[in-house]
Order: sequence, then C-alpha cells, then structure tokens
Amino acid sequence: MRGEVVWTRARRDVPPLPPLAANAEVDVVIVGGGIVGLAAARLLAENRRVMLLEAARIGGGATGRSTAKATSQHGPIYRSLVQDIGEAGARAYAQANEAAIGWIADVARAGDGDAFTRADAFVFARDADEADGLHEEAQVAARLGLPADLAAEAEIGLPHAGVLRFTNQGSINPSILLRDLAASLRGRAALHEGTRVVAVEHGEPCVVRTTTATVKARWVIVATQIPIVPEGRFFARVFPHAHAVVAARQDRLANGIMAISAGEPTRSFHTARVAGEDWLVATGEPFRPGDAGTQAAAFATLAAFLHESFGLAPELGWVNEDFRPMDGLPFVGPATGATPNLLVATGFDAWGITTGVVAGHVLAAIIEGREHPLAPVLDAARLRPLKGGSTFFTENARTGLRMVRDRAFGGRVANADAIRPGEGGVIRHRGQQVALSRDESGRPTAVSAICTHFGCVVGWNGVDRTWDCPCHGSRFSASGEVLCGPAVAPLEPVDLDAGPES
Ligand SMILES: Cc1cc2nc3c(=O)[nH]c(=O)nc-3n(C[C@H](O)[C@H](O)[C@H](O)COP(=O)(O)OP(=O)(O)OC[C@H]3O[C@@H](n4cnc5c(N)ncnc54)[C@H](O)[C@@H]3O)c2cc1C
Ligand code: FES
Repeated sequence: MRGEVVWTRARRDVPPLPPLAANAEVDVVIVGGGIVGLAAARLLAENRRVMLLEAARIGGGATGRSTAKATSQHGPIYRSLVQDIGEAGARAYAQANEAAIGWIADVARAGDGDAFTRADAFVFARDADEADGLHEEAQVAARLGLPADLAAEAEIGLPHAGVLRFTNQGSINPSILLRDLAASLRGRAALHEGTRVVAVEHGEPCVVRTTTATVKARWVIVATQIPIVPEGRFFARVFPHAHAVVAARQDRLANGIMAISAGEPTRSFHTARVAGEDWLVATGEPFRPGDAGTQAAAFATLAAFLHESFGLAPELGWVNEDFRPMDGLPFVGPATGATPNLLVATGFDAWGITTGVVAGHVLAAIIEGREHPLAPVLDAARLRPLKGGSTFFTENARTGLRMVRDRAFGGRVANADAIRPGEGGVIRHRGQQVALSRDESGRPTAVSAICTHFGCVVGWNGVDRTWDCPCHGSRFSASGEVLCGPAVAPLEPVDLDAGPES
C-alpha cells in the first residue's frame, strides 16, 4: 500500500500562492486554509478586507484527507442531540448542516463543476437491535426536517439488517472544492500559502506574527483545526483521534455510495470517481495518534474489511485526525469571554465538512454583528455540564501522565541500527530522546522526539512518514516541520555525529 491521499490525484497542477512578504493591516486575518477558513473568507470578503494565511498548501489539512462526505447525517446522532440540546437546537443544527450542503454545491457549480455530486448517505445496521435504533432515528430526523427515511432494500454493496437513508447529500472531492473556494476569492481577499502563523496577540488591533511578516487586524479567526493559540485551552477540551483511511480502485459498485455503520466497530466508506477512475475509500475505528502498534492494527483491520466485504485490496493509505469535543458539539466563536476579537472553530469530531461551513457562517455572523441560531449552541466559551465528562477526565489524566512519563522514560528501540530503511523510531542519544527515521535508501534523519507543544514524545507514523504526538495531535514531517498544530515550532534537528549513542 502506497502512502498517498486519493483525492489529490484530481488536483490540477496549481502553482503555490505567494507567501506573505510584508507587514500589513486588514479587517480580518484567517489562519488556516481548510474548509472553515475558506468558508469564512468567502463569506466575509464581500464587505471586509480579508487575509487568509496558510502554513503549507490550501487543502493539505484534515479536509483534504477526509472521506469526503458532505452530509447532515453524522451517524445516528439526532436522537441524542434532541436529548442534549432540545428539539429547537437539534433542528437548527440539522437545518444549518443541510444548508451547508447547498452552499458547497453552489461553490462547486461556480468552479470546475467536478467537486460535488448529489448522492445519498446511509447508516447501516448489522443486527436487529441496531435496525430498531435506526427506525427511531429516522422518525426523529424526519421530524427535524431532514430528508431521512428507512430504505430496507437499499443497495450499498454490503449485506445489512436495515438502512437509514438521507437523500440529496453531497459526494465531494475536497481537494478540488478547496481550490474552487480559493479561486473564488481571487481579487477579493489576500491569500498566502507557505505562511505559518507563530503567535497571535489579542488586542485592538490583534497582532498576528508569521514566520515572514506581521499583520494587524481587528478580528482574527484561528481555523487551524485545533487552535494554535493558548486562549481557551482547547487542547484540554477536545481530544485527538486518528483514523486509518484506505482507497482501492473498484468496478463493482456505483459511485456516490456514502455509508457508515450504526454501531461499533465503525466502518465508513464512500465510492467516488477520481481523475477518471472509480475508487472506494474507507475508514474505521479511532486510535491514538503516534501509536504505531494500534495504527498498524487499524490498517490491517481495514484491509480485512475491504477484502471480506468487497473483494478489494487497499492500494493507497493515509492517516487523518480530528478532535472530539468534551460535550459532543464543536466550539465556535470567541476563544474566551475576555478575547471577543479572537475567534476559533474546533472539535468537529470527524464531521467538519458541513459543520465547518456552518462554523464559517457562525463566525461571519459574529464579525458582522448578526445573530446566528447556532452561535449560542456552539459558543466556544461555554461551560456546559459535561456530557462525556468522565471520558474527558480519563483522557486528560492519561495525557498528563504521558507528559510526565514520556519525558522520563520515553519510547526506545535498542539502537539506531534496529531502524530499517523506510522506518522510524525513538532512540536515546547523549541522554536526549531522538526521533530517528530512515528513507528508503537507509539515509537517517534525526530530530528531537519531544513535541514542541507540551513535551510529549512523538511516535512514528510509517504510512504518512510523519511524527505524530499522542497528547494533543500535533504532527511533524520526518525532518521536523509542523504539519498540524497545536504546535507551531518544529522539532529541533539532532546531529547524530555529535557523539556516541547512550
Ligand atoms: C478519517 C476522517 C474522515 C473524515 N471524513 C469526513 C467526512 O467524510 N465528512 C465530514 O464532514 N468530515 C469528515 N472528517 C472531519 C473533517 O475532515 C474535519 O473536521 C474538517 O476537515 C476540519 O476542517 P478545518 O478547516 O478545521 O481543518 P483543516 O482542513 O485541517 O484546515 C486547517 C488548516 O490550517 C493550517 N494551519 C495549521 N496551523 C497553522 C499555522 N500555524 N499557520 C497557518 N496555517 C496553519 C493547516 O495547514 C490546514 O491547512 C473526517 C475526519 C477524519 C479524521
Ligand atoms: S500536541 Fe501537545 S504535547 Fe504534543
């Protein structure tokens, strides 16, 4: 299996946008060129001077690495959503996500036209109990105005005990969609790639410091999937989950089937045409980022699922991460009550394509002084009774323990020679924990294994060839550059020739 994201096969050769070259002053700075940042930019660019700063390439983050379903069906969630936030709140959530699909369709229509196709989204039951649950879910979803019904005979390519169907949803190519969004902003907003934000100082104006220049802005939206700013301590209010994703060419199923299991273990798949070929993309249950053992098991389980269910073998694979919020809903809005001009959006729990567009609408409404029905529900500064509070307590306690334990003991392989070409591992070198990887020819690259966010020891992800942090989900390239936050500083290079291993 080759480490590659299938959606990028359709990305035309788009030259990079120029990095920020000089200091500037605008109305709104948006940090991050994923679905949230670009949606907010498009909504705000009409009436405000907007600048979007992307550390790497637009679409290279979680959005571009997703399973690419644009749907209001986020698994069978609506019964519990009604219980948690009431009928009116759940209806607002449902309708905003449905509207987001239409918004995405409009963007795609004005673009190249191959970023979006209408398709149905399914939740499938594996047994009679799950099927009963879907029956109730269908009733609640329909009551909330969603296009939901039970489709007992639905052909989803798998045997099942019942299926909940949402009609008229969106099968997207996220790579093309985000490029379309960026193209739609040409001449209306300043977009810079290769521009990493390293600090944001809240104030009037806010000051945004990048690796190349400084920008002053009345408003800053931090749309970096997990905020890179400390305000709001979101790294302790969401926790990271990684997933194996695989893709295989197929010729048996129709394109545009988007399905997810009702129960555990999660199996989710999507059939789509990419660059003239028909693919099946699938993902499964979560694991801790940087845990090589569970990652390998997750890929093996998915390979077995593809083989047993569809007679396919994974050709491409990658890892994607998202963040689970402590009470089940994303955090969108001012990071804290004391920082009204510093806005964030995080905690999409693997459904951020439509909720990311919703977040963009909520953030734009806040900046424009308008009300949005979901702004109070998603309020990032909320202190709600914690649904899932015990899980959070456990996760935070585990992370705290890991930070102490990792620094003291760390992970360790016997010695540098035990790391074979194409692999990586943490060794001790002159008393320091070193993340050592080798390219296919065996040439070593060594960087500090201590995550620059809060000091956990990173773990090797052999599929993407990255160092992933188990504590709050930062990811780094083999040579130490930050790929996603909350870290903003790279892993320091280590010179292995500077002394003997210890
Ligand atoms: C396996 C998996 C499958 C998924 N499938 C789906 C799906 O089918 N449907 C769905 O709705 N959701 C799905 N999701 C969830 C969805 O992908 C995310 O919730 C969503 O993409 C988050 O969007 P974002 O804009 O917040 O983040 P991103 O898309 O990650 O964008 C953030 C951007 O910020 C940039 N950045 C980071 N730090 C800095 C910095 N310091 N300076 C400048 N830029 C910076 C990054 O480079 C990145 O481009 C899935 C998630 C996973 C894990
Ligand atoms: S991401 Fe927080 S310690 Fe690594």
